[in-house]
Amino acid sequence: MKLIIATIKPFKLEEVRQALSDVGVTGMMVTEIKGYGAQSGHTEIYRGAEYAVNFVPKIRLDIVAQDADVDPILDTIQATAKTGKIGDGKIFVTNVEQAVRVRTGETGTDAV
Ligand SMILES: Nc1ncnc2c1ncn2[C@@H]1O[C@H](COP(=O)(O)OP(=O)(O)OP(=O)(O)O)[C@@H](O)[C@H]1O
Ligand SMILES: [Mg+2]
Repeated sequence: MKLIIATIKPFKLEEVRQALSDVGVTGMMVTEIKGYGAQSGHTEIYRGAEYAVNFVPKIRLDIVAQDADVDPILDTIQATAKTGKIGDGKIFVTNVEQAVRVRTGETGTDAV
């Protein structure tokens, strides 16, 4: 199992959520965050100038998925979250050791 952590632009949330549902994603965590990437939250780079970091509102998605489903999920997020402008977000993928469905006690991929 993998954990996919994606940051997206907030106005893209519903489109991304719907597209992920269409490829079989049945659950996710959604968090309102602030962050910054290569532009330090600015829309332009002022060469040589010092400037403060701006924290920009983003949505963070946490999705735990079976290994075989990761690539379609990554493709779907990329296709739907992309505007082509800076700040479209990042996607990170890490391993997940264990999962438990509390109601039933199911573990591993059965719990996802
Ligand atoms: N190296 C990083 N580690 C953790 N989170 C990051 C990292 N880079 C970006 N993020 C998160 O992703 C959000 C969006 O980043 P962003 O899309 O601006 O990345 P970027 O590398 O600057 O790409 P772009 O040039 O397209 O803007 C940030 O607000 C931050 O929450
Ligand atoms: Mg950026």
